[in-house]
Amino acid sequence: MILVDREDAVAVVTVDRQDALNALDVATLTELRDRLRELAADDEVRVVILTGAGEKAFVAGADIKYMSGLDVDEAKAWGALGHEAGRLLETMPAPTIAAVNGFALGGGCELALACDIRYAATNAKLGQPEVNLGIIPGWGGTQRLARVCGLGVAKELIFTGRVVDAEEALRIGLVNAVHDPVLEKARETAALLASKSPIALRLMKELANRALGGDHAANLEAEGDTFGELFSSEDAREGLTAFVEKREPVFRGR
Ligand code: COA
Repeated sequence: MILVDREDAVAVVTVDRQDALNALDVATLTELRDRLRELAADDEVRVVILTGAGEKAFVAGADIKYMSGLDVDEAKAWGALGHEAGRLLETMPAPTIAAVNGFALGGGCELALACDIRYAATNAKLGQPEVNLGIIPGWGGTQRLARVCGLGVAKELIFTGRVVDAEEALRIGLVNAVHDPVLEKARETAALLASKSPIALRLMKELANRALGGDHAANLEAEGDTFGELFSSEDAREGLTAFVEKREPVFRGR
């Protein structure tokens, strides 16, 4: 089951399948994809937090029992469904934050990697142990781990299947901070982001997503154009004027 808790402009999405450490079966992953689609299309949503129910797990991966019966076409469809969820987290206009409260393994680590920001509880354990099952990461792990931690670290982790604790995850840049309770840290950052211009955040996210791909010169050009065009927004006027007038800006998303 996927729970969506909306408080002001912040949506907390909780994967709740605790008898399987929140591992994702078809029903749960489909529901997660559907909820993320709705949140991506909702202008009122300014920040999305993804977490897992209970004390033990964020998401302990794709459901291994389910995967053990898949043929090639079914496995491709399963991979595509996971990719869809990851792309939504990565590209939705609102910033996404993973609050990793325990095991984030395989598909769980991949969903966390698709988020813009990752925080871990001290009991967090992250990794891509697919190799131990004779398979490979299939929801973005071969690409996004390298983008977040660098290719050398990523290859060691996906080749060995080694799981890292919160302290190591912080050291290798896999998470941005370690904090208990992790949801409190995520909510604090979410409140901060919700006070900023959603237009500026959306454009920065789009541009930052291009940083490690495509043509550098073209990406800089896109930044330049976007920077200029943003000056037609009320939020840009408000932010600049508020500074000059020595007051706090109020951003309305226009
Ligand atoms: N898929 C399906 N079920 C899973 C699961 C997964 N990825 N991860 C955990 N579960 C289930 C277990 O089968 C168990 O169910 P059961 O009681 O019906 O047997 C339940 O969740 C609790 O897990 P358990 O293994 O008893 O807990 P633990 O604390 O001893 O170990 C883990 C926790 C995370 C180390 C262990 O569950 C594990 O290795 N899970 C698989 C992680 C993985 O490889 N994920 C990547 C998949 S691509």
